[in-house]
Amino acid sequence: MKFPVFSALAAQILSVSAGTVLWDGRFNEFSASTDLNNWSWGNQVGPYQYYIHGASAVTSYVNLSPDFRNPADSGSKQGAKITLDNTAYWNGQNMRRTELIPQTTAAINKGKVFYHFSLMRKDTNAPALTREHQIAFFESHFTELKSGWQSGAAGVSDPLLRWCIGGQTKWSTNWDAGVWHNVAYEIDFSANTVGFWHSTGSNPLTQTIAPVSASVSSNGADWHVGVLELPRDGYPDSNEDYFWSGVYIESGSLTTSVAGPGAAPVPGSSSSSSSISQTPTSTPTSTPTLSPSTLVTSTTKSHSAPVSSTSAASCSVAQYAQCGGNGFSGCKSCAAPYTCKFSNDWYSQCL
Ligand SMILES: *[C@@H]1O[C@H](CO)[C@@H](O)[C@H](O)[C@H]1NC(C)=O
Repeated sequence: MKFPVFSALAAQILSVSAGTVLWDGRFNEFSASTDLNNWSWGNQVGPYQYYIHGASAVTSYVNLSPDFRNPADSGSKQGAKITLDNTAYWNGQNMRRTELIPQTTAAINKGKVFYHFSLMRKDTNAPALTREHQIAFFESHFTELKSGWQSGAAGVSDPLLRWCIGGQTKWSTNWDAGVWHNVAYEIDFSANTVGFWHSTGSNPLTQTIAPVSASVSSNGADWHVGVLELPRDGYPDSNEDYFWSGVYIESGSLTTSVAGPGAAPVPGSSSSSSSISQTPTSTPTSTPTLSPSTLVTSTTKSHSAPVSSTSAASCSVAQYAQCGGNGFSGCKSCAAPYTCKFSNDWYSQCL
């Protein structure tokens, strides 16, 4: 009599997830974005660190709604709209930034892991094509998405959404409005490689770029779910919205279904999640549409302002602003009377 019960349970467990979820950033336990305020340096609770943002209320920068998720992502109750407005300057920096960082002690920076998220833009509050945006990046920028005109490139604007390794574009596509881009970074912290899984809409992820060598590094608290925009003279701030869905990190084998781990099976589908054996045989399905000169000049991987404005010896950093850390190439001297205080390998601050 017990066997059918056990069998149904086992089947359900098997269909739940292909890998092991190390960290879940899908906002399923959030009643509203104001729950992000639960976190502080003194009380590090919840799935996200929330400190890289402008001075306005959280609802100016992050909002949650079922309308903001990929409709195919049935494992998520809601998605996040992450916004840059004209107040979105963090700590006196000249870059607009709204970023969430995983709050976890799980081994998200060891062995082979998959960083999942889906990203969409709309025509309303579209990310500017004329400024560089760094999206879903690590502090050292060993891998990230980018959009818009790339700092140092020729021309004025750029319609591409790119996947980059160390600032070099490895894949790109036109970033059209209303299209969900489903992504998994396949990061191997032992082999120092990163591969790129991608699909659009409700399609399962496929390995679009087989793992390539990268300067992989993370302290486990430096994946920025959100966006950083570099300044550019003559191009004023516009309001920008970025929609996020299905943010989680898993180990083991990859969940290719956009429904994600724990999702109810999609009616008519034999399985909502499927495990893919790791046979990196694919070749790039799309090559960057970059001129050689652009390739040479678009390698700026620091998320600091363009070098010309940060290399002067006479620079000074305001109180609370960043003055050091791995991958940081901005100004390192603090305005009097503040001094540059080490916080961790990735972050020092003028205090
Ligand atoms: C934030 O704190 C409130 C009040 O303690 C709690 O009800 C809520 O579940 C917390 N949110 C998250 C995401 O942990």
